[in-house]
Amino acid sequence: MALLEVDDIHTYYGNIEALKGVSLTVEEGEIVTLIGSNGAGKSTTLRSISGLTPPREGSIRFDGDDIAGVAPQDIVRKGISQAPEGRHVFPRLTVRENLDMGAYLRRDDHSEDMERVYDLFPRLKERERQKAGTMSGGEQQMLAIGRALMAQPKLLLLDEPSMGIAPILVDRIYETIKQINQQGTTILLVEQSAHHALDASQRGYVLATGQVALADDSDALRQNEDVRKAYLGA
Ligand SMILES: Nc1ncnc2c1ncn2[C@@H]1O[C@H](COP(=O)(O)OP(=O)(O)O)[C@@H](O)[C@H]1O
Ligand SMILES: [Mg+2]
Repeated sequence: MALLEVDDIHTYYGNIEALKGVSLTVEEGEIVTLIGSNGAGKSTTLRSISGLTPPREGSIRFDGDDIAGVAPQDIVRKGISQAPEGRHVFPRLTVRENLDMGAYLRRDDHSEDMERVYDLFPRLKERERQKAGTMSGGEQQMLAIGRALMAQPKLLLLDEPSMGIAPILVDRIYETIKQINQQGTTILLVEQSAHHALDASQRGYVLATGQVALADDSDALRQNEDVRKAYLGA
Protein backbone atom coordinates (compact mmCIF):
# COMPACT_ATOMS: atom_id res chain seq x y z
CA MET A 1 0.00 0.00 0.00
CA ALA A 2 1.33 3.45 -0.92
CA LEU A 3 1.81 6.08 1.79
CA LEU A 4 -0.62 8.39 -0.04
CA GLU A 5 -3.41 7.16 -2.30
CA VAL A 6 -5.55 9.79 -3.97
CA ASP A 7 -8.42 8.15 -5.80
CA ASP A 8 -10.68 9.95 -8.26
CA ILE A 9 -11.09 13.21 -6.34
CA HIS A 10 -13.38 15.98 -7.51
CA THR A 11 -12.77 19.35 -5.85
CA TYR A 12 -14.86 22.46 -6.36
CA TYR A 13 -14.74 26.20 -5.74
CA GLY A 14 -18.45 26.93 -5.57
CA ASN A 15 -19.77 25.56 -8.85
CA ILE A 16 -16.38 25.42 -10.54
CA GLU A 17 -15.04 21.88 -10.74
CA ALA A 18 -11.30 22.45 -10.40
CA LEU A 19 -10.37 18.75 -10.11
CA LYS A 20 -12.28 16.35 -12.35
CA GLY A 21 -11.26 12.97 -11.02
CA VAL A 22 -7.59 13.13 -10.06
CA SER A 23 -5.85 9.93 -8.94
CA LEU A 24 -2.24 9.58 -7.84
CA THR A 25 -0.06 7.68 -5.40
CA VAL A 26 3.09 8.48 -3.46
CA GLU A 27 5.16 5.62 -2.04
CA GLU A 28 7.04 6.01 1.20
CA GLY A 29 10.49 7.47 0.53
CA GLU A 30 9.72 8.92 -2.91
CA ILE A 31 9.87 12.39 -4.34
CA VAL A 32 6.94 12.73 -6.74
CA THR A 33 6.37 15.76 -8.96
CA LEU A 34 3.14 17.25 -10.23
CA ILE A 35 3.65 19.52 -13.23
CA GLY A 36 1.12 21.55 -15.17
CA SER A 37 0.44 25.04 -16.47
CA ASN A 38 -1.10 27.85 -14.53
CA GLY A 39 -4.66 26.92 -13.52
CA ALA A 40 -4.23 23.17 -14.15
CA GLY A 41 -5.20 22.29 -10.58
CA LYS A 42 -1.82 21.68 -8.96
CA SER A 43 -2.43 23.80 -5.87
CA THR A 44 -5.98 22.49 -5.59
CA THR A 45 -4.59 18.95 -5.51
CA LEU A 46 -2.26 19.84 -2.64
CA ARG A 47 -5.01 21.77 -0.86
CA SER A 48 -7.32 18.77 -1.23
CA ILE A 49 -4.71 16.54 0.42
CA SER A 50 -3.93 18.97 3.25
CA GLY A 51 -7.63 19.52 3.93
CA LEU A 52 -7.74 23.25 3.10
CA THR A 53 -10.09 22.63 0.16
CA PRO A 54 -11.53 19.15 0.74
CA PRO A 55 -12.75 17.15 -2.25
CA ARG A 56 -16.49 16.72 -2.75
CA GLU A 57 -16.07 13.22 -4.16
CA GLY A 58 -13.38 10.57 -4.17
CA SER A 59 -11.07 9.30 -1.46
CA ILE A 60 -7.68 10.18 -0.01
CA ARG A 61 -5.89 7.58 2.07
CA PHE A 62 -2.78 8.44 4.03
CA ASP A 63 -0.85 5.88 6.05
CA GLY A 64 -3.93 3.64 5.98
CA ASP A 65 -6.47 6.25 7.12
CA ASP A 66 -9.14 7.99 5.07
CA ILE A 67 -8.34 11.71 5.41
CA ALA A 68 -10.73 13.31 2.90
CA GLY A 69 -12.80 15.80 4.89
CA VAL A 70 -10.60 15.62 8.01
CA ALA A 71 -9.80 19.05 9.50
CA PRO A 72 -6.48 20.55 8.33
CA GLN A 73 -4.87 20.60 11.79
CA ASP A 74 -5.73 16.91 12.27
CA ILE A 75 -4.15 16.14 8.90
CA VAL A 76 -1.00 17.92 10.13
CA ARG A 77 -1.14 15.75 13.26
CA LYS A 78 -1.34 12.65 11.10
CA GLY A 79 1.89 13.65 9.39
CA ILE A 80 1.25 15.84 6.34
CA SER A 81 2.48 19.41 6.19
CA GLN A 82 2.54 21.90 3.39
CA ALA A 83 4.70 24.82 2.32
CA PRO A 84 2.08 26.84 0.44
CA GLU A 85 2.38 28.60 -2.90
CA GLY A 86 3.64 32.13 -2.34
CA ARG A 87 5.33 31.06 0.91
CA HIS A 88 3.05 32.98 3.31
CA VAL A 89 5.53 33.36 6.11
CA PHE A 90 4.52 35.71 8.94
CA PRO A 91 6.30 38.91 7.80
CA ARG A 92 6.40 40.66 11.17
CA LEU A 93 7.68 37.65 13.07
CA THR A 94 11.34 36.69 13.18
CA VAL A 95 12.72 33.60 11.52
CA ARG A 96 12.81 31.78 14.85
CA GLU A 97 9.23 32.83 15.71
CA ASN A 98 8.04 31.56 12.32
CA LEU A 99 9.68 28.20 13.02
CA ASP A 100 8.03 28.12 16.46
CA MET A 101 4.68 28.60 14.71
CA GLY A 102 5.37 25.50 12.62
CA ALA A 103 5.53 23.47 15.82
CA TYR A 104 2.35 24.94 17.29
CA LEU A 105 0.53 21.61 17.47
CA ARG A 106 3.30 20.06 19.55
CA ARG A 107 3.85 20.39 23.26
CA ASP A 108 7.21 18.70 23.40
CA ASP A 109 10.52 20.49 23.18
CA HIS A 110 11.19 21.19 19.52
CA SER A 111 14.70 22.63 19.79
CA GLU A 112 16.22 19.60 18.04
CA ASP A 113 13.97 20.10 15.03
CA MET A 114 14.93 23.74 14.92
CA GLU A 115 18.59 22.73 14.88
CA ARG A 116 17.81 20.32 12.03
CA VAL A 117 16.19 23.13 10.03
CA TYR A 118 19.19 25.37 10.72
CA ASP A 119 21.54 22.59 9.57
CA LEU A 120 19.54 22.25 6.36
CA PHE A 121 19.34 26.01 5.83
CA PRO A 122 22.35 27.71 7.47
CA ARG A 123 21.13 31.02 6.07
CA LEU A 124 18.10 30.83 8.36
CA LYS A 125 20.36 30.40 11.36
CA GLU A 126 22.30 33.52 10.35
CA ARG A 127 19.01 35.41 10.14
CA GLU A 128 17.39 33.91 13.20
CA ARG A 129 16.34 37.26 14.67
CA GLN A 130 15.52 38.99 11.41
CA LYS A 131 11.88 39.74 10.56
CA ALA A 132 10.76 37.34 7.85
CA GLY A 133 9.19 40.09 5.74
CA THR A 134 12.58 41.73 5.24
CA MET A 135 14.19 38.64 3.68
CA SER A 136 14.50 37.79 -0.01
CA GLY A 137 11.99 35.53 -1.75
CA GLY A 138 14.43 32.63 -1.72
CA GLU A 139 15.10 33.02 1.99
CA GLN A 140 11.37 33.18 2.68
CA GLN A 141 10.95 29.97 0.70
CA MET A 142 13.59 28.30 2.87
CA LEU A 143 11.68 29.51 5.90
CA ALA A 144 8.37 28.20 4.56
CA ILE A 145 9.92 24.75 4.03
CA GLY A 146 11.63 24.89 7.43
CA ARG A 147 8.37 25.87 9.11
CA ALA A 148 6.60 22.91 7.48
CA LEU A 149 9.35 20.57 8.72
CA MET A 150 8.78 21.71 12.31
CA ALA A 151 5.60 19.61 12.37
CA GLN A 152 7.76 16.49 11.74
CA PRO A 153 5.83 15.42 8.64
CA LYS A 154 6.05 11.99 7.05
CA LEU A 155 4.83 13.64 3.85
CA LEU A 156 5.91 17.14 2.87
CA LEU A 157 3.86 19.02 0.26
CA LEU A 158 5.74 21.77 -1.60
CA ASP A 159 3.81 24.17 -3.83
CA GLU A 160 6.08 25.82 -6.45
CA PRO A 161 9.20 26.16 -4.30
CA SER A 162 11.08 27.82 -7.19
CA MET A 163 8.47 30.45 -8.05
CA GLY A 164 9.92 33.97 -8.25
CA ILE A 165 13.29 32.99 -6.83
CA ALA A 166 16.80 33.82 -8.07
CA PRO A 167 18.25 30.83 -10.01
CA ILE A 168 21.19 30.34 -7.67
CA LEU A 169 18.89 30.02 -4.68
CA VAL A 170 16.63 27.63 -6.61
CA ASP A 171 19.62 25.30 -7.04
CA ARG A 172 20.35 25.47 -3.36
CA ILE A 173 16.72 24.91 -2.36
CA TYR A 174 16.50 21.84 -4.61
CA GLU A 175 19.72 20.42 -3.14
CA THR A 176 18.11 20.78 0.27
CA ILE A 177 14.84 19.21 -0.90
CA LYS A 178 16.80 16.13 -1.94
CA GLN A 179 18.62 16.13 1.39
CA ILE A 180 15.32 16.31 3.32
CA ASN A 181 14.14 13.31 1.33
CA GLN A 182 17.36 11.38 2.00
CA GLN A 183 16.79 11.98 5.70
CA GLY A 184 13.52 10.07 5.41
CA THR A 185 10.75 12.51 4.50
CA THR A 186 8.50 11.62 1.55
CA ILE A 187 7.81 14.59 -0.74
CA LEU A 188 5.06 15.55 -3.19
CA LEU A 189 6.03 18.69 -5.04
CA VAL A 190 4.31 20.90 -7.55
CA GLU A 191 6.01 23.04 -10.19
CA GLN A 192 5.14 25.00 -13.29
CA SER A 193 8.77 25.14 -14.39
CA ALA A 194 9.64 21.48 -14.44
CA HIS A 195 13.43 21.27 -14.87
CA HIS A 196 14.50 21.07 -11.27
CA ALA A 197 11.43 19.15 -10.18
CA LEU A 198 11.86 16.33 -12.71
CA ASP A 199 15.55 16.23 -11.88
CA ALA A 200 14.90 15.73 -8.17
CA SER A 201 11.97 13.31 -8.41
CA GLN A 202 11.59 9.64 -9.31
CA ARG A 203 8.09 9.89 -10.80
CA GLY A 204 5.79 12.57 -12.04
CA TYR A 205 2.26 13.39 -13.11
CA VAL A 206 1.22 15.98 -15.66
CA LEU A 207 -1.98 17.76 -14.75
CA ALA A 208 -4.08 19.55 -17.39
CA THR A 209 -7.45 21.23 -16.75
CA GLY A 210 -8.08 19.30 -13.56
CA GLN A 211 -7.16 15.86 -14.86
CA VAL A 212 -4.06 13.67 -14.98
CA ALA A 213 -2.89 13.75 -18.60
CA LEU A 214 0.29 11.71 -18.16
CA ALA A 215 2.01 9.67 -15.47
CA ASP A 216 5.49 8.22 -15.80
CA ASP A 217 9.03 8.04 -14.45
CA SER A 218 10.61 11.48 -14.32
CA ASP A 219 13.24 10.43 -16.86
CA ALA A 220 10.57 9.36 -19.32
CA LEU A 221 8.64 12.60 -18.79
CA ARG A 222 11.79 14.59 -19.48
CA GLN A 223 12.16 12.79 -22.82
CA ASN A 224 8.49 13.21 -23.75
CA GLU A 225 8.06 15.58 -26.69
CA ASP A 226 4.84 17.21 -25.38
CA VAL A 227 6.31 17.69 -21.93
CA ARG A 228 9.46 19.22 -23.41
CA LYS A 229 7.47 21.70 -25.47
CA ALA A 230 4.97 22.66 -22.78
CA TYR A 231 6.96 22.57 -19.55
CA LEU A 232 10.67 22.48 -20.30
CA GLY A 233 10.85 25.31 -22.81
CA ALA A 234 12.39 23.01 -25.47
N1 LIG B 1 -10.32 30.38 -4.61
C1 LIG B 1 -10.73 30.05 -5.84
N2 LIG B 1 -11.98 30.37 -6.29
C2 LIG B 1 -12.40 30.02 -7.52
N3 LIG B 1 -11.67 29.34 -8.40
C3 LIG B 1 -10.43 29.01 -8.05
C4 LIG B 1 -9.89 29.33 -6.75
N4 LIG B 1 -8.63 28.84 -6.67
C5 LIG B 1 -8.39 28.26 -7.87
N5 LIG B 1 -9.47 28.35 -8.67
C6 LIG B 1 -9.59 27.79 -10.04
O1 LIG B 1 -9.33 26.40 -9.98
C7 LIG B 1 -8.52 26.00 -11.08
C8 LIG B 1 -7.25 25.33 -10.57
O2 LIG B 1 -6.48 26.29 -9.86
P1 LIG B 1 -5.13 25.94 -9.13
O3 LIG B 1 -5.25 24.66 -8.41
O4 LIG B 1 -4.73 27.13 -8.32
O5 LIG B 1 -4.11 25.76 -10.35
P2 LIG B 1 -2.52 25.71 -10.39
O6 LIG B 1 -2.03 25.62 -8.99
O7 LIG B 1 -2.19 24.51 -11.20
O8 LIG B 1 -2.09 26.97 -11.06
C9 LIG B 1 -8.28 27.24 -11.92
O9 LIG B 1 -9.24 27.28 -12.94
C10 LIG B 1 -8.52 28.37 -10.94
O10 LIG B 1 -8.97 29.52 -11.60
MG1 LIG C 1 -0.78 26.85 -7.94
